[in-house]
Amino acid sequence: MSAKLWGGRFEKATAGIVDAFNASIAFDQRLFRQDIRGSIAHATMLGEQGIIPQADADRIVEGLRGILADAEAGRIQWRQDAEDIHMNVEALLTDRIGEAGKRLHTGRSRNDQVALDMRLYTMDACLEMKAGVEALCEALLQTAEAHLQTMMSGYTHLQKAQPITLAHHLMAYVQMFLRDRERFAQAHARAAVMPLGSGALAGTTYPLNRGRVAELLGFPAVTQNSLDGVSDRDFALDFLYAASVTMMHLSRFCEELCLWSSQEFSYVVMDDAYSTGSSIMPQKKNPDVAELVRGKTGRVYGDLQALLVTLKGLPLAYNKDMQEDKEALFDAHDTLSICLKVFTAMFETLTFRTERMERGAAEGFANATDAADYLVRHGLAFRDAHEVVGRLVAYCVKENKALLDLPLETLQTFSPAFEADVFEAISPQACVALRNLPGGPAPEAVKAAIAAAREALAS
Ligand code: ARG
Repeated sequence: MSAKLWGGRFEKATAGIVDAFNASIAFDQRLFRQDIRGSIAHATMLGEQGIIPQADADRIVEGLRGILADAEAGRIQWRQDAEDIHMNVEALLTDRIGEAGKRLHTGRSRNDQVALDMRLYTMDACLEMKAGVEALCEALLQTAEAHLQTMMSGYTHLQKAQPITLAHHLMAYVQMFLRDRERFAQAHARAAVMPLGSGALAGTTYPLNRGRVAELLGFPAVTQNSLDGVSDRDFALDFLYAASVTMMHLSRFCEELCLWSSQEFSYVVMDDAYSTGSSIMPQKKNPDVAELVRGKTGRVYGDLQALLVTLKGLPLAYNKDMQEDKEALFDAHDTLSICLKVFTAMFETLTFRTERMERGAAEGFANATDAADYLVRHGLAFRDAHEVVGRLVAYCVKENKALLDLPLETLQTFSPAFEADVFEAISPQACVALRNLPGGPAPEAVKAAIAAAREALAS
C-alpha cells in the first residue's frame, strides 16, 4: 500500500479499480509545466509573506525547477498511485527535498490549483491558435494579392450566381479567420484571471498575497469569488467555442476544395505531397487532407458539447466531474493545431487552374444580373429588366448559348434598349469592376480589403 497524500483519515487502502478509475495522471501530466509554474509562484509568495520560512521557499523553488527540467527531458515516471499531476509533483518534491516539500501546499487546494493550471494551459493554447490562424491568413493574403484579376463565378445554392474574383473569394475566408483570431484573443483575456487563493472553495485563513502571485504569473487580475474561482470553466468553453468555429470555417473551405479539385470543377489541382491514392483504383488522387479536416470538425464540436454537458448539472463548487474538462480541452487543442498546420501547407501548394475559373465565369449566365442592370441604366425598371433577361436566358438555354454569344439583333428582339456596348458591359471583367464599393469584388475594393486585413493582423 502506498501512502496517499490525503491518507490520514482512511483505515483501508483504495481499491485498485478505484485508483485506476480516479487517476487523471495519464492525461493531466500534460499540465506539468503549468502546474510547476503555478507552484513556483505560490511558494515564492509564501516565502515573501513569511507564511513559510524563506529557506524552505527557496528549497521548494529550486526543487521544482529540477523537476521541471527532468520532466522536460522525459526523465520522470509519473505514478498512477499519486493520482494526478498535482500530487505527483508534490510527492516527487518531498522525495527530493524532504520536509520543506510538505510546506508547498500551505494555503492552497488542488481545486484552485487545477483551476490555475487549466487557465494557464488555455492561455498558452489561445496564443498558439491565434498564431496558427495568423499564418493561414498570411498565406491567403499572398494568394489573394496574386489573383485580384482572376475571374471566377461566385455561387449561391451551388449554382453559378455572379462573377467575382478568386481574390475576393479567398478574402471571404480571411474575414472569418480574422474573427477567429479575435475570438482566441478574447478567450485568452477571459482565461487570464488568477484563481489561487480560492482554496478548496472558501478561500484560506493564511495572509496570501493574491496580487503578487498574479503578478509573478503575468495575470492582470484575480478572481472575485472563491466558489466561482474553483468551479468556473467558462474560459475552457470559450476556447472550445473559438476552436469549433475555426474548425467550421476550415471545414467549409475544405468542402470547397474537395469540390474544386473534382474533375467536374477542376478549379484546383492539389500537390501530390498533399493528396493520397487508392489501393484499388490506379487513377485516383484524393483530397484526403481536406476531407479529414472536415471530418475532424465534428470531434471538436463534440469536445465543446462534452464540457457543456459535464458542467450543466454541477452544484457549487468543485465536483470531481470537472476532471473530465481536460481531455476535451486537450483534444480540441491538438486537433485544431494540426488542422491549421496541415491545411495551411496544403493551401500553399495548391495550383489554381485560372483558365477553368475564367471560363466558368463566362458560362452559366453569371452575368445575367449585369445584363438586367445594363437595361436599368438604359431606362427600364429593374423588375421589367429582370423579366427580359429571364426570357433571354430561357432562349439561350434552349439554343445552348451564352448571353455573350448572341448577336445584337437577337438581343434587340428581346429589348430595343440593348446597344452595341452591351457586350463590353456584361463581360466578367466589367461585371466585377463595376462592383467597386467597400466589401465588393472589384480589384480596387479587394486591394483595400487586403490592406485592411494586413493592418488588423499587425494590431
Ligand atoms: N485531478 C483533479 C481534477 O483534475 C484535481 C482536483 C482534485 N480535487 C479534489 N478535490 N479531488 O479535477
